[in-house]
Amino acid sequence: MLKIGDVAMKNPVVLAPMAGVCNPAFRLIAKEFGAGLVCAEMVSDKAILYKNEKSLKMLFVDEREKPLSLQIFGGDKKTLVEAAKVVDEQTNADIIDINMGCPVPKITKCDAGAKWLLDPDKIYEMVAAVVDVVKKPVTVKMRMGWDEQHIYAVRNAQAVERAGGKAVAVHGRTRVQMYEGTADWDIIRQVKEAVNIPVIGNGDVKTPQDAKRLLETTGADGVMIGRAALGNPWMLYRTVQFLETGELAPEPVLREKIDVCILHLDRLIDLKGENVAVREMRKHVAWYIKGIKGASKIKDQVNQFDSRNVIKEVLYSFVEEIEALELVAK
Ligand SMILES: Cc1cc2nc3c(=O)[nH]c(=O)nc-3n(C[C@H](O)[C@H](O)[C@H](O)COP(=O)(O)O)c2cc1C
Repeated sequence: MLKIGDVAMKNPVVLAPMAGVCNPAFRLIAKEFGAGLVCAEMVSDKAILYKNEKSLKMLFVDEREKPLSLQIFGGDKKTLVEAAKVVDEQTNADIIDINMGCPVPKITKCDAGAKWLLDPDKIYEMVAAVVDVVKKPVTVKMRMGWDEQHIYAVRNAQAVERAGGKAVAVHGRTRVQMYEGTADWDIIRQVKEAVNIPVIGNGDVKTPQDAKRLLETTGADGVMIGRAALGNPWMLYRTVQFLETGELAPEPVLREKIDVCILHLDRLIDLKGENVAVREMRKHVAWYIKGIKGASKIKDQVNQFDSRNVIKEVLYSFVEEIEALELVAK
């Protein structure tokens, strides 16, 4: 079973950290849908230290979300260490995760995120410095390398282990790939063989069957799911159930999706107020209704409104329209 330091998960299914997505509203839903571990969206070390109000809010962890991993990023040892101390001493998070995978130029150009993947010594130094000053277990999330010519996942994971890191999550893509191509799961297997700390495999797990295959073919201790859970927390629940029983639960019907979508919206409103929540929810609405006939028309309508009640009305009339069509088809 997946255990990171003293933190034991009830199953190996991990919700990936996703910026702009993994706030307490969605994380709690992911937890209610059975995820063994939820990861928060990344927070900048400097923003924590400058006490940026928005970033400090990102450190809030609801008791019901636990166990939870809170991810920080930064390019400078001093600020990273100080920010880790804040997370250690002042938050309810169970695990401190360091981002070594973020590919976007805004992050890599300040030597943070995936930039470290070129330098196992730097990884050792940074992780050791953080481990030294905190009590919570420290983990690292990394891509497999910077580019095809520099795939140092094994050496980098060994550096994390030597430095006292308690687990490593590996996304089987390089930084240069961004989200192109398919994730290489064999590198996850190689990392698992090379270290004694838990390894969490990540990349392109789109179905519960994929999750099982990743765990079986790589030997990984956990499976991390990102995009497949967007607008689809059922993916987490179905994966947990499939891994435990071999049974594949049915996909949710539209009404169930909209019920959860509105719960998600209401939790976001509690967190950020209606104005911000409604705007942020637009991308989620698109994900919740993706693939359903007529979804793009509904998406356009939802994007025009700023009121929770109107959005709710639009979505439930869509449900009724679809249910009526299904009745006719029967
Ligand atoms: C919208 C979005 C935001 C992301 N934000 C983060 C982040 O804050 N920290 C991080 O380590 N990875 C981040 N990622 C990468 C994911 O955690 C994950 O590694 C990647 O999506 C591959 O997994 P998947 O194929 O299951 O989506 C993000 C991915 C997406 C799609």
